[in-house]
Amino acid sequence: MTPDGQRSAEILMQEGQIAALLAPGSAPSGVASILDATGCLVLPGAIDPHVHFREPGFSAKEDWEHGSLAAVAGGVTTVLDMPNTQPPTTTAAALRDKVTLIAGRSRCHYGLYGMLWAQNAEEIEALAEAGAIGLKVFLGETTASLPPPDDGQLLGALRRTAALGLRTAVHAENGAILRAAAVAGDGLAAHGRSRPAVAEAEAVRRVCLLAEATGAPILIVHVSTAWAVDILRRVKAEGRVNVRVETCPHYLLLTEDEAAPMGAIAKVNPPLRSAEDRSALWEAIADGTVDQLGSDHAPHTPSEKECVGDLYRAAAGFAGVQTLVPLLLTEVVAGRLGIGRLVELIAEGPARHWGLWPRKGRIAPGADADLAIVRLCPPAVLPRPFSKNPRSPLSDRPVHAEIVATLVAGQLAYRDGHPVGAPTGQWQRPNA
Ligand code: NCD
Ligand code: ZN
Ligand code: ZN
Repeated sequence: MTPDGQRSAEILMQEGQIAALLAPGSAPSGVASILDATGCLVLPGAIDPHVHFREPGFSAKEDWEHGSLAAVAGGVTTVLDMPNTQPPTTTAAALRDKVTLIAGRSRCHYGLYGMLWAQNAEEIEALAEAGAIGLKVFLGETTASLPPPDDGQLLGALRRTAALGLRTAVHAENGAILRAAAVAGDGLAAHGRSRPAVAEAEAVRRVCLLAEATGAPILIVHVSTAWAVDILRRVKAEGRVNVRVETCPHYLLLTEDEAAPMGAIAKVNPPLRSAEDRSALWEAIADGTVDQLGSDHAPHTPSEKECVGDLYRAAAGFAGVQTLVPLLLTEVVAGRLGIGRLVELIAEGPARHWGLWPRKGRIAPGADADLAIVRLCPPAVLPRPFSKNPRSPLSDRPVHAEIVATLVAGQLAYRDGHPVGAPTGQWQRPNA
């Protein structure tokens, strides 16, 4: 899959980059090794712009060995890691510590978000200077989030990010509405009522307004409702806000009603929604309102998820980095998504939004040789999961795609169910 569409080609790789695309059968003699991908589709390695690999502080949930192996096993060659760790990534020093912590351990490339919260606006320039891929702000409470900036603080912070051209990823739920709506009670429906659509819609509108006032680039993560889609479609059509939009496979593939029997395993923030919301998200993918797909890979331990049967106290979030690409390719096979559009949503889009384009996100001469070799197949069970806590409400679904091999910087990182070689993932700064 090249930016110009699907074609048959030999991909010549040299020193971690794509050197040339050649006509089939015209590979020069003397190449060091040949990987035969006959019958397969070669995609640019997916960039999962939304993972929580949990280090430092929560390595019982996930760590870089498990998370990055799950990534390459899922055809993901770059992940962008969220800052709600312990300590959270709120300062340049914390970001540098994270870089040191991960070095030499990751099978996939990685970028790191800094966290924006109520009290660190003056750290923004230092976080950018230290190499943050972007900022993340949690406007409503979720796992290990810190108090959000108030509107005045957010406006001030967005002035600073605008000056830097640094994009901010926004968890858009209004915290005060969440607190007022909170209802105890078992069952996913109670969780859904605790985080109503208006909380998302209000936060989306407000942050878009502040982004308009400042010119700051923003990206709304894990959009879950028809209401937010409607707002974002209009904001984008007006063209005054530099806003991009993410949704996740679980909002496209599952409704709250369908997931109800699974209980806490399907608990996530924002919650799974209705069939109408799900259709609106598919329309938003078709008409370009959605710009990227991320897994929101957010594993927790079984005891944190099950929480002695009390869904109200169970942790929100579940694994997803390994299933992102196979699940979406299954939608391609089902005819709901074009393969070219899929590549835009999982590779080109994230690369552009986070300063990795044109180095990553495309198969073309000069780009990094990060590739996913996939085969579309009859329905199969998902292969062995590698996350430390891999369960998800989607992990038992049959898929129509298999990740045959994954290359990171021209080297095999995964093949036929197994990791290959030592970790070679490199830290990615934006616009490097
Ligand atoms: C995420 C987590 O556990 O870190 N949980 C979730 O339900 N999505 C946090 C988040 O992305 O909001
Ligand atoms: Zn979130
Ligand atoms: Zn998340």
